[in-house]
Amino acid sequence: MLRKTLPSWTSQARLCRQMSVVAKSLKYTEHGEPQDVLKLVEDKLADPKDKQVLVKILAAPINPADINTIQGKYPVKPKFPAIAGNEFVGEVVCVGDQVKGLQPGAHVVPLASGLGTWTTHAVYTEDQLLAISSKVGLAEAATITVNPCTAYRMLKDFVQLSPGDTVIQNGANSAVGQAVHQLCRAWGINSVGIVRNRPEISELKQLLQGLGATAVLTEEEMRTSDLFKTGKLKRPQLALNCVGGKSATEVSRHLNDRGVMVTYGGMSREPVTVATGPLIFKDIAFRGFWMTRWSKENYSAPERKQMFQELCQLMEQEKFVAPTHEMVPLEKFKEAAAAALNFKGFTGKKFILDMSC
Ligand SMILES: NC(=O)c1ccc[n+]([C@@H]2O[C@H](COP(=O)([O-])OP(=O)(O)OC[C@H]3O[C@@H](n4cnc5c(N)ncnc54)[C@H](OP(=O)(O)O)[C@@H]3O)[C@@H](O)[C@H]2O)c1
Repeated sequence: MLRKTLPSWTSQARLCRQMSVVAKSLKYTEHGEPQDVLKLVEDKLADPKDKQVLVKILAAPINPADINTIQGKYPVKPKFPAIAGNEFVGEVVCVGDQVKGLQPGAHVVPLASGLGTWTTHAVYTEDQLLAISSKVGLAEAATITVNPCTAYRMLKDFVQLSPGDTVIQNGANSAVGQAVHQLCRAWGINSVGIVRNRPEISELKQLLQGLGATAVLTEEEMRTSDLFKTGKLKRPQLALNCVGGKSATEVSRHLNDRGVMVTYGGMSREPVTVATGPLIFKDIAFRGFWMTRWSKENYSAPERKQMFQELCQLMEQEKFVAPTHEMVPLEKFKEAAAAALNFKGFTGKKFILDMSC
């Protein structure tokens, strides 16, 4: 095992130069469907120098945006040849001689986006990495930088929420949705989730309520629900939309006066259509959110540090768990990518590439 032969902290830079690591990576040289364009290739990595860090990747999720990037349908365009993937948790193997804050054995996640993470090993620079406690679980750490951060920012940055307030969201079983329920539970906010109907709806409702959802309704149930009319729950001041189309229109109808709907995804591939009545008479607002933009604009901001601290703390305390997932070996990427790609949805879980062995 690589870890057992790690050099000591004082001599690591010298030993780095003797590492001779061969990385197995999922690379592509043109856009297309992941099963067609991704190739598992081996490359000998150059030894890390100066501020560089050699990382053994332990786990990396497959997110919808990763698939869209490979397809060429995402605003982020990689330079070819590119390694796929954007998130990971890894372990520092050794560092260049100018690295100050990372030691071999430390667990790290990416601070920068688009690093190319579906690989067994990679050389990054210190400022692209954030050290996190190894007490944070593998799946939680591998998926922390995109979905939990997106949920966190959307709950913090658009309206001022207080305990007892309500948030409503569609796609409430998505990884972001699961993160929203858990943060709402931690902060005393009511989380109302809307999901599409399916044969396993009772199990799904139970799962989401177990994560902290106050109520989970199907799209049909929501149309006739008296949840807000009876005053059982306060009308939501914030709505989160990752679906678009009819689903978004329906969700926006439940917003309170001057409520805000934040759109962060378009899983139905339909545009967001605004109902005229609520727009005029309730003065509701429609906003968009993109985590990549926020992270770039707040790369070293104290708010970002604070966000990671809070999320890690909740994860360490097991008050925040990874989304429903399946760990798959890197070699099984074709099956995993095809399952994640299924654009009709109902996938039921996130696939996480497991390179920890
Ligand atoms: N803007 C940002 O910064 C940001 C950050 C993170 C994620 N996102 C976006 O948020 C969305 C969710 O991401 P995730 O990682 O949480 O995804 P995920 O865990 O894979 O979940 C996908 C969600 O989309 C729903 N869905 C899939 N196909 C659908 C369809 N045809 N019609 C309606 N719903 C459908 C699924 O519900 P069913 O079970 O009913 O299929 C599920 O709730 C994606 O669009 C992603 O790109 C955006």
